[in-house]
Amino acid sequence: MYSVKNVGTEPAGLRIDSSRPMIALTFDDGPVAGCTDRILAALEMYGGKATFFMLGMNVQPNAELVKRMVADGCEVGNHMWNHEYITKISADAVRDILNRTNDAIESACGVRPIVMRPPGGNRDDASMAAVGSVGMSAYHWQIDTRDWEHRNTQKTVATILDYVRDGDIILMHDIHSAEASEQVIPELINRGYQLVTVSELAEARGGAVPGVIYHSFK
Ligand code: NI
Repeated sequence: MYSVKNVGTEPAGLRIDSSRPMIALTFDDGPVAGCTDRILAALEMYGGKATFFMLGMNVQPNAELVKRMVADGCEVGNHMWNHEYITKISADAVRDILNRTNDAIESACGVRPIVMRPPGGNRDDASMAAVGSVGMSAYHWQIDTRDWEHRNTQKTVATILDYVRDGDIILMHDIHSAEASEQVIPELINRGYQLVTVSELAEARGGAVPGVIYHSFK
């Protein structure tokens, strides 16, 4: 069917049914010990995948979690080294920080990310050109749980279940949404959604181009 080169060991084409609804859960700012592992366990238990947009500074101390993401078929993504806003730094600095973060992730798990999320969602033409120049695509979101703001598990779960639609990218954070993940993942599966990575979603819906930012794939 289609190939996914940057995620896991499981052939994606064998488990994704492109005729059925699919969404991409994404988790930012991790990995965080005690949180990311709960999210991975819930995905493993119910048969879902997710994408983790990680800070480079958090990678080496949590290398085992990053390895587990890849072993579980999840996608490793780049969220800059220390949450730098790409609109506030030079194009060279954007490239350097993306590469440094990719180096850290690759040395932790053997996979070099091809997807990134701009911290704060902030981007402009110049910064997106810098992202494209290192061969990466960017992923915004369709549903923002605002988990960091209200820190309320029930509100996170309700936001997702009230608004979710086929092709959505959903934003959460490892540190705030471990419990919400444990609740929402089985319910999403129950509703018939395939939980796929952002690259799998893109591949199933026409592909992604470096230097472009995507919000959803309908
Ligand atoms: Ni962030």
